[in-house]
Amino acid sequence: MLIWSILLVLSSVVSLVQSQNGVLEQSFWPSAVPLAVRSPYFSCWLLTTEGRNLLAQWPRFWNYASSGSGDPFLTWQGLAKVDGTTYQWLGDWSDRPTPGINRVNLTGFRVTPTSTVFEMLAGPMSINVTFLTPIEPSDWVSQSIPFSYVSLEAASIDGSKHDFKVYADITAEWVSGNRSANVAWNTTVGNSVIYHEIFLSSPSQFEEIFGQADDGTMYHAVLNGLDVSYQTGLDEDCRGQFQNNSVLTNKQDTNFGNITGSSNSPVFAFAMDLGSISSTSAPVVWTLGYVRDPAIQYVTSSGQVQLRSPYFVTQYSSMADVISDFLINYTTTSQRAQALDSKIQQDALNISSEYADLVSLAARQVFGSIDITISKGSDGQWNTSDIMIFMKDMGNTRRINPVEVLYQAFPIFLYLNSSFGRPLLAPLLEYEDSSQFSLPYAAADLGNGYPVALGNNSGHSQGIEQSGNMLIMTLAHARASGDGYLIDRYYDLLKGWAKYLVNNTLEPTASQQSADQENVADSSNLAVKGIIGIQAMAEMSKAMGENDDETYFSQQVMTLIGEWESLALSSDQQHLLLDYGDESSWALVYNLYADRLLGTNLVNSSVCESHFEI
Ligand SMILES: *[C@@H]1O[C@H](CO)[C@@H](O)[C@H](O)[C@H]1NC(C)=O
Ligand SMILES: *[C@@H]1O[C@H](CO)[C@@H](O)[C@H](O)[C@H]1NC(C)=O
Ligand SMILES: *[C@@H]1O[C@H](CO)[C@@H](O)[C@H](O)[C@H]1NC(C)=O
Ligand SMILES: *[C@@H]1O[C@H](CO)[C@@H](O)[C@H](O)[C@H]1NC(C)=O
Ligand SMILES: *[C@@H]1O[C@H](CO)[C@@H](O)[C@H](O)[C@H]1NC(C)=O
Ligand SMILES: *[C@@H]1O[C@H](CO)[C@@H](O)[C@H](O)[C@H]1NC(C)=O
Ligand SMILES: *[C@@H]1O[C@H](CO)[C@@H](O)[C@H](O)[C@H]1NC(C)=O
Ligand SMILES: *[C@@H]1O[C@H](CO)[C@@H](O)[C@H](O)[C@H]1NC(C)=O
Ligand SMILES: *[C@@H]1O[C@H](CO)[C@@H](O)[C@H](O)[C@H]1NC(C)=O
Ligand SMILES: *[C@@H]1O[C@H](CO)[C@@H](O)[C@H](O)[C@H]1NC(C)=O
Ligand SMILES: *[C@@H]1O[C@H](CO)[C@@H](O)[C@H](O)[C@H]1NC(C)=O
Ligand SMILES: *[C@@H]1O[C@H](CO)[C@@H](O)[C@H](O)[C@H]1NC(C)=O
Repeated sequence: MLIWSILLVLSSVVSLVQSQNGVLEQSFWPSAVPLAVRSPYFSCWLLTTEGRNLLAQWPRFWNYASSGSGDPFLTWQGLAKVDGTTYQWLGDWSDRPTPGINRVNLTGFRVTPTSTVFEMLAGPMSINVTFLTPIEPSDWVSQSIPFSYVSLEAASIDGSKHDFKVYADITAEWVSGNRSANVAWNTTVGNSVIYHEIFLSSPSQFEEIFGQADDGTMYHAVLNGLDVSYQTGLDEDCRGQFQNNSVLTNKQDTNFGNITGSSNSPVFAFAMDLGSISSTSAPVVWTLGYVRDPAIQYVTSSGQVQLRSPYFVTQYSSMADVISDFLINYTTTSQRAQALDSKIQQDALNISSEYADLVSLAARQVFGSIDITISKGSDGQWNTSDIMIFMKDMGNTRRINPVEVLYQAFPIFLYLNSSFGRPLLAPLLEYEDSSQFSLPYAAADLGNGYPVALGNNSGHSQGIEQSGNMLIMTLAHARASGDGYLIDRYYDLLKGWAKYLVNNTLEPTASQQSADQENVADSSNLAVKGIIGIQAMAEMSKAMGENDDETYFSQQVMTLIGEWESLALSSDQQHLLLDYGDESSWALVYNLYADRLLGTNLVNSSVCESHFEI
């Protein structure tokens, strides 16, 4: 249920029939599907809105279109040649006045937690293309590597062998939202890998343009081998070369220019010649990555401005090694991803197939919204006891660690590896415990300038919402992980928020806003979150042996919850009201979820059942 809120932007269900003869395995269609979604600034999607041919359009940067101007695309072109006929399996070059590029027929499509898979027919070959963005809850070095795979497998459908060649390129649009920015590039041909790297001539640190960062380097890479060729240059030259000659030139065009040229843009391409085959013996794999270092600017409790790097720097000092290991790891990573997919989907299917699809879609969204970071200690070494994770309010704003969004995403962290809770909450708690912060309730975020975490000490209207969220998450993390560090370190801060809730939560004023930005006075849903938050404090007091606090907060909760039930229930006791006394109103009181998550069981099951079985 909570997962729904992060999906609001994606949740319009569209009816769309793409397949000629295939079975569409989704129970619903989201309005966009993830292709490469691994960090806040590496977020590539395909729109599925009605009537679109999925495989005849350019992928886009997350939510770029809603910014209202500019070019929304992250150009990514995929071609295959079967017996000399060129087919397009990704992108939309076929709308160019270039004869002879054919569209494939999509026959199947599915989204798993880690992958989006397209099955298609290209003449006598069937092709599966898998966009794999790993989720690595147990290995934070791997999780922090902002790379994603695309792999392709093919099989003959007519029993004969066919001559088979494949091609993929990207443009420099992935490097910046400023399409007239000047870029340069370089191709490195190593023994094990070949990679193109693309960078801005004048990057702007921590700047964002139309949602994209302006200070990263883009990579496109493959394993080196006899069948591989590469090329950089204008799109017509590289794609035309593949189409005309089936092999690239292994040459670099160093005529650097703007991201988007007047008619023709530079692309960074690879092609593979698989010979005459009845099926691929192993998947053909490309990898894309977008790397920023430093990733985050953070102000510590002492007011010191700190530059934080992606966590993988603790294990890797060169991008060449990262790329090489990432490609070499493909088989094991893919197997691990399939095992994770199957675990998540089985557990979610136990609820319903619709729920399994929602969770599948949300998983990459959550992990693609975070940067796992590390700082350098006073000794100049990476300080491995200072891991912090930052989350972006993806697709909406540049808010950093937006508390209500973190709260909505928290269950997946608790489920996959509850240890994520500490580095996600730590930057907020450290800031709020410092002299830089003086509000009596919890902050809503660390400011609105991702990736710069300066904090925000201005008053805001979500005091009950965010204080409740912080108390609930802090207890939930400690419960699930057995790690009481945050409670111990920030006890007084947490207790202050619980006291604020005791004073304010039973009858929220109209100036109190909920996570869905409703400003309704006497909101049943908001009030109960605050009450559950106070109970979370009582339990934290108990764990700390603070018996007086425990007694005080528990007694407050007993009184408050009784009053809440009589105010929030309709007079016929049949449903919960949106706001007290408004007998004709109804509410989806999703905040009751926390009562079950924490096992506090404050609200009678009879109330929950009457409420939800409608
Ligand atoms: C797509 O399907 C149509 C209708 O069955 C067929 O005529 C066409 O050849 C197919 N195209 C490809 C690329 O397989
Ligand atoms: C959770 O992450 C921590 C830190 O990376 C790791 O030590 C631990 O093994 C992980 N636990 C699980 C269950 O994956
Ligand atoms: C594509 O995936 C489907 C479903 O998993 C499978 O049956 C088929 O063999 C795959 N095709 C290729 C070419 O790998
Ligand atoms: C590159 O962009 C700049 C700034 O918009 C523009 O002045 C210049 O003409 C562009 N160059 C080319 C080759 O398109
Ligand atoms: C985009 O890049 C051009 C060329 O470098 C520059 O003139 C312009 O100011 C940039 N626009 C933004 C919004 O940074
Ligand atoms: C390009 O890559 C080559 C080979 O890795 C390297 O020697 C060269 O310094 C690089 N050039 C630039 C401009 O980065
Ligand atoms: C490919 O062939 C077409 C048609 O002959 C020609 O117009 C085009 O310039 C060629 N492109 C390349 C890159 O060879
Ligand atoms: C490769 O796999 C190993 C073992 O799982 C892991 O430690 C390492 O971080 C991975 N590296 C990359 C770049 O994926
Ligand atoms: C599936 O749900 C049933 C009934 O709630 C429960 O007993 C079972 O443990 C669940 N299985 C899994 C794998 O979650
Ligand atoms: C490493 O980080 C921890 C937690 O922020 C801090 O207490 C410690 O002083 C740091 N160590 C060094 C060497 O800077
Ligand atoms: C701080 O929060 C206030 C109230 O929500 C908001 O209006 C303002 O834009 C925020 N400022 C920064 C720098 O985050
Ligand atoms: C709660 O209300 C009491 C009584 O009005 C007041 O003394 C106290 O300062 C308030 N505490 C908070 C945290 O608002």
